[in-house]
Amino acid sequence: MLEVSSPGKIHIIGEHAVVYGYPAIISAIDRRIKIRAEESNKIKIKNNLYQKETQFEVEETAAAAKKSRELWKKGDKKNDFTDLFAFLKSDFWKRNKATIGLILFSLKIKDGVSLIIDGDLPSGVGLGSSASLSVAITKAIAELYALQISNQKINEIAFEIEKLNHGRPSGGDNSACAFGGTIWFEKEKIEPLSLPDFLKNLIIVLTKRKLSTGDLVQKVGNLEKNFRDSKIKNIAEATYKMKLALKNENLDEIKYLINFAQDNLAGLGISSPEINELVRGIREVGGAAKLSGGGGGTVICFHQNKEKLIKLLKKLGPNFEEIKLGAEGVRVES
Ligand code: PMV
Repeated sequence: MLEVSSPGKIHIIGEHAVVYGYPAIISAIDRRIKIRAEESNKIKIKNNLYQKETQFEVEETAAAAKKSRELWKKGDKKNDFTDLFAFLKSDFWKRNKATIGLILFSLKIKDGVSLIIDGDLPSGVGLGSSASLSVAITKAIAELYALQISNQKINEIAFEIEKLNHGRPSGGDNSACAFGGTIWFEKEKIEPLSLPDFLKNLIIVLTKRKLSTGDLVQKVGNLEKNFRDSKIKNIAEATYKMKLALKNENLDEIKYLINFAQDNLAGLGISSPEINELVRGIREVGGAAKLSGGGGGTVICFHQNKEKLIKLLKKLGPNFEEIKLGAEGVRVES
């Protein structure tokens, strides 16, 4: 049996603005999706993250992929992906079917595959689980059928799947999952960045909020243009400044920019009272915090005195974890 894994990611800065062609700084994290794969004449999926399993015919994946692509094209024209998202949510396996159908079509594979999905990457909280899954399944199927394809090609296929998941994604999530490390992502151009030592470990809070990135991106898209553009430009400027601050290991500037980005994300209406409250508490003790990703549920928290931050979080009571940034991209485990 073949095993591959792919990391999740956090956005250090630039989410939402990146959808409008501006840069983002994204880092792969040490939480991964794991896929074990075997050849099969059907499609078999055991999803241990949801304790569910199923099997179906290969043709069903082709049909789901075709229908999703059609709905995506219609959504793209109308600037509204509601029908696509409803279709993919219409049953638990529909998204997996469309994903696998698209991969088999892209790799010109006619046979099936048996997949066991595992890992320690939570889903729907802004840690890039959908991109990580797309990257991992693509790599697993390509390896299983001994196709020598590059990470670049895997990334391109995963981007097509991400379009089904989110409408018009930037491609940043799948790039971080495929290539790993910390990346500067701008209009699909990718540049590796290095992080100061004090940012290589980070505390994240996982809130109870579970919202879809596609819906949140659409919500921002529906805001009045001038209002939206001013916030998006602020985030973009802060992202350029962050690149420099990371290079110069300028701790105060990094903290300022994290907080500034959070204020603008909140201004776009994608924060929540729970996140605002947490951010306020962290700022009060001299730290910085912002939501990360679409707005789902992860808050990245930073303080130069980690013990102080941990003490505060224990007092405030949210669910928090320490993660490592700059993890390796998609890889074969065995
Ligand atoms: O919620 P996530 O982890 O999928 O991150 C989304 C980041 C956005 O900038 C909001 C969307 C995108 O396509 O880049």
